Amino acid sequence: MLRRLHPDQPEAFAFTPANQAWAEAQITKYPEGRQASAIIPLLWRAQEQEGWLTRPAIEHISEMLGLAYIRGLEVATFYFMFQLQPVGSVAHIQICGTTSCMICGAEDLIGICKEKIAPNAHQLSADGKFSWEEVECLGACSNAPMAQIGKDYYEDLTAERFTAMLDELARGEVPTPGPQNGRYASEPLTGLTSLTDYDSGKTQFNASVQLATDIGDTVKRIDGTEVPLLTPWQGKAANKAKKPTAAKRDDMMPPSGPDGAQGGRAKGEAAANRTRGAASDGVAEVAGKDAKTAAKPVRGTVAPKAKTDVKAQSGTAAPTAGKKPRTMSAPRKSGADDLKLIKGIGPKLETMVNSMGFFHFDQIAKWGQDELAWVDQNLEGFKGRASRDNWVDQADKLARGEETEFSAKASKDGRYD
Ligand code: FES
Repeated sequence: MLRRLHPDQPEAFAFTPANQAWAEAQITKYPEGRQASAIIPLLWRAQEQEGWLTRPAIEHISEMLGLAYIRGLEVATFYFMFQLQPVGSVAHIQICGTTSCMICGAEDLIGICKEKIAPNAHQLSADGKFSWEEVECLGACSNAPMAQIGKDYYEDLTAERFTAMLDELARGEVPTPGPQNGRYASEPLTGLTSLTDYDSGKTQFNASVQLATDIGDTVKRIDGTEVPLLTPWQGKAANKAKKPTAAKRDDMMPPSGPDGAQGGRAKGEAAANRTRGAASDGVAEVAGKDAKTAAKPVRGTVAPKAKTDVKAQSGTAAPTAGKKPRTMSAPRKSGADDLKLIKGIGPKLETMVNSMGFFHFDQIAKWGQDELAWVDQNLEGFKGRASRDNWVDQADKLARGEETEFSAKASKDGRYD
């Protein structure tokens, strides 16, 4: 396949201030004279910011690295992970078309893309929200057929489920990644035949999906303000990322409308965490936490040395919205309720919610709008999750001894997925 720059290019490119600081910090990871090695993370960051890689972006990054443009172009056009044309403002769908997926139905999925998105790969849908392409094996063959959307894998797809997922994305929802047929990971559909004690202590979703849902922004573009910039390889003194003000951050949010998943989520979760991309390129970042909660390292991240570092770097003002609900210092003598029976609360969130002083269904059931807003604001890394998953109604039922569809399934199966 020919990989050429798109004929329509923007006039210029600039990293957001936060992404610029991030990019400059990346360059310092490499020894003197080897700064060109930073090209892939920088190109990737530009793509994460803009959705695709523009010619001005490639040139800007080449200049930052002291490279001839042609060197930057060589890298950008060589690797298929770089999108050289505009992609859907909500999602770019990457369907694996290699052997396992092809045998298991990838062609049906591609047919749906052609029908619902655009007849040709890399062509925008009529509303500009979607684009798609066929890609080579993404290494999830045992869960074929599958698609990558944003940073996450959607596996064990059927034509029906994939169609529904596109509809969900179009409505601004983000489908839960991972297997779409009820499988936990890649175990036999009929259940485990060995290592059966694997069930003990596992999280609601498999590790990858758990991280994706905990972070909660699979399709969002990033402007660099989602996480504080840490540069531990430079030492404390060099950690001087300038964080833009909240107003500036709003200005920098991507232009897609709030009707799309990207716009709605981006506006509502401007401080949402983004650790996976950072972890993948070796950058130490801590999810958008304030100094109070950031001391605990997130997978693939490095914990800040001092609380004040994070506060200074996050630039995140203390949330003030809503009204703090009544809390308890400890659960009642009968013991805390299993809050994981509320759909949307996994082990991590349960620990967080407990640490905020909520242990019982009836506590959550009593939250009014103001209290819910306060909780939503204070769920660091999960902002908005309480109202999004309707915790109050679920807790109300559970407090009255009734089951929800989710709790019934969890109680029956002894698992929370
Ligand atoms: S063949 Fe599709 S993920 Fe490997």
